[in-house]
Amino acid sequence: MIAASVRDMADAVRHRLNGSQPDIALILGSGLGDIAEAIEGAAVVPFEDIPEFPRPTVRGHAGRLVCGTLNASSVIALQGRLHMYEGHGPEMAGMPVRLMHALGAHTLFVSNAAGGIRRTLVPGDLMLIRDHINLMWCNPLAGPVQAGDLRFPDMSEPYDAELIRQMRIAARQVRIPLAEGVYAGLLGPAYETPAEVRMLERLGADAVGMSTVPEVIVARALGMRVAGLSCITNVASGMSGMPLSHAEVLETTERVRHEFMALVRAFVGMLRRAP
Ligand code: HPA
Repeated sequence: MIAASVRDMADAVRHRLNGSQPDIALILGSGLGDIAEAIEGAAVVPFEDIPEFPRPTVRGHAGRLVCGTLNASSVIALQGRLHMYEGHGPEMAGMPVRLMHALGAHTLFVSNAAGGIRRTLVPGDLMLIRDHINLMWCNPLAGPVQAGDLRFPDMSEPYDAELIRQMRIAARQVRIPLAEGVYAGLLGPAYETPAEVRMLERLGADAVGMSTVPEVIVARALGMRVAGLSCITNVASGMSGMPLSHAEVLETTERVRHEFMALVRAFVGMLRRAP
């Protein structure tokens, strides 16, 4: 069912892309969508123009696909993702990855806003995601095997080692300090309790958020290479004595948007295909 509707969606989007075929899919997290404005020669397709594509409901998410060139690489950006806490099932949360893959993307860059659990992380830090923990209690691949998927995808290297290396180099080039760690994906939409954050710390999580995991699992099932970046927007619940709010999340992403953009630009440029 998903595969058939993704084919229809891809057909509807393809003829809006003026023949360009993206190599790299970018998923832009809460408040991190601005980089889409830097895409040159952009073809913009609002979600409402794509048959059966749900509308985003979260502030900080625009709700469109933007396809064009970023630092000479051919990219397609999802500005506004589908979260499970909006009521989407896991297969729907991963569907945009299938769509961008159907349009030609073979590499996925995911980003998100996340709460910092590791005590050295402070709001405004950018954290390279080295691995994740799926605490959403579901999997986007459960059910019939979709065309092109592996039934039992290997997850021993969810985030590609070579892309991790390149992200580190890109960060050095643009002189942006880059933390590294493990992202725990929870369903949300309520933020965690302090006891849950202490549990996550013991489980080995460095940061916590409400997205990314279904998208990465789908990408790996399709054989895509994945890189991920968390913007640490707040210290996790109970660690600062302050209540958490989405406004704080958006304030922090606004503050670091230039660094985020510089890093993504540099990284994407490194993946440029030889002409
Ligand atoms: N928890 C979960 N999701 C988040 C957080 C958090 O602290 N910050 C931004 N997204």
